Amino acid sequence: MLCGSYYRNHTHGVNVMEQKKTIFSGIQPSGGLTIGNYIGALRNWKSLQNEYDCYYSVVDLHAVTVRQVPSELRRRVYETFALLLALGLDPNENTVFVQSHVPAHSQMCWALNCYTYYGELGRMTQFKEKSERHPDNINAGLFDYPVLMAGDILLYNTDLVPVGADQKQHLEITRDIAIRFNNIYGDVFKVPEPYIPKMGARVMSLQEPTKKMSKSDENENGFIAILDEPDVIARKLKRAVTDSEGSIVAREDKPGVTNLMGILGALTGKTMEEIEDDFAGKGYGHLKSAVTDVVIEELRPIQEEFKRLISDKAQLEELMKQGRDKANRVAGRTMAKVYKKMGFIGLR
Ligand code: TYM
Repeated sequence: MLCGSYYRNHTHGVNVMEQKKTIFSGIQPSGGLTIGNYIGALRNWKSLQNEYDCYYSVVDLHAVTVRQVPSELRRRVYETFALLLALGLDPNENTVFVQSHVPAHSQMCWALNCYTYYGELGRMTQFKEKSERHPDNINAGLFDYPVLMAGDILLYNTDLVPVGADQKQHLEITRDIAIRFNNIYGDVFKVPEPYIPKMGARVMSLQEPTKKMSKSDENENGFIAILDEPDVIARKLKRAVTDSEGSIVAREDKPGVTNLMGILGALTGKTMEEIEDDFAGKGYGHLKSAVTDVVIEELRPIQEEFKRLISDKAQLEELMKQGRDKANRVAGRTMAKVYKKMGFIGLR
């Protein structure tokens, strides 16, 4: 099925119509997004938007696998949507939408559930971690989370999924489910590839640098939110955990320093070796202030644009509708094809 947009390729003087490849990725509207989300994923969403036909979703259905306060969830969906636009994702070039607005996501999840095994879902590390964090609410949705995610991706005939390293296992199960379904019914799904950046694929907590930086961290000093004010960013980085050695080198036994260097490298394009050379003989204070300056400058334009966008809910809803309509068209086609293959009667 053809569903991408097209661009002209003028190489060799021949005017060939080529199909753009498709990207899908999603982000949960849970709490303030962090520079981990930004460096590991969102930044790449933006840089890939011209080359690919992109679908970017605020995955609110995933968010309710942990308990949510409805009014807060609603507010965060607006905010996350506005933030995606503030990053510079063009809603006319890309399909930016809210997952619950497109019913095919839930439908596809159910269909794929019947081709996914209990054992493989039980092996997911994110499920194990979240079950430990919320022992009083280990619900079926939490267990099923990767299948909903597989559905997200497979609905759009996705070639590439830009994510941080923590999503790698979910991408692998998506591929397994797609291949399994294709083995039964023929070539229905495209089997997607992950796109995980070389630098910044796992930004670590500033307080416990052996743990992933996370928006759900109880210690606010552990993460930098994309919307943190400059003085807050400076304070958090000043308090970032390092070590007592005093040398600025990237090494496994220096996770705090290595993490700060990784953030700097990801945002400046410098390699770890270049950063080591730049800071030879200097102290951790220098490194922290360099990271502070770079992070504040990177986030400033995003924060300004966010403030403008979030003040106009009506415009955000218009853009949500536009995204929903575009997503529905493609997702609905894939869903109809899958139902037909499975043997359901389609009525006109
Ligand atoms: P979520 O909302 O936890 O995170 C969104 C994206 O940010 C990346 N990320 C990080 N990257 C580097 N360092 C970190 N500390 C860090 N923290 C988060 C994540 O890898 C992710 O790419 N299950 C997904 C959402 C999802 C999805 C999808 C993604 C639902 N359906 C389909 C891709 C395709 C999640 O919870 O991301």
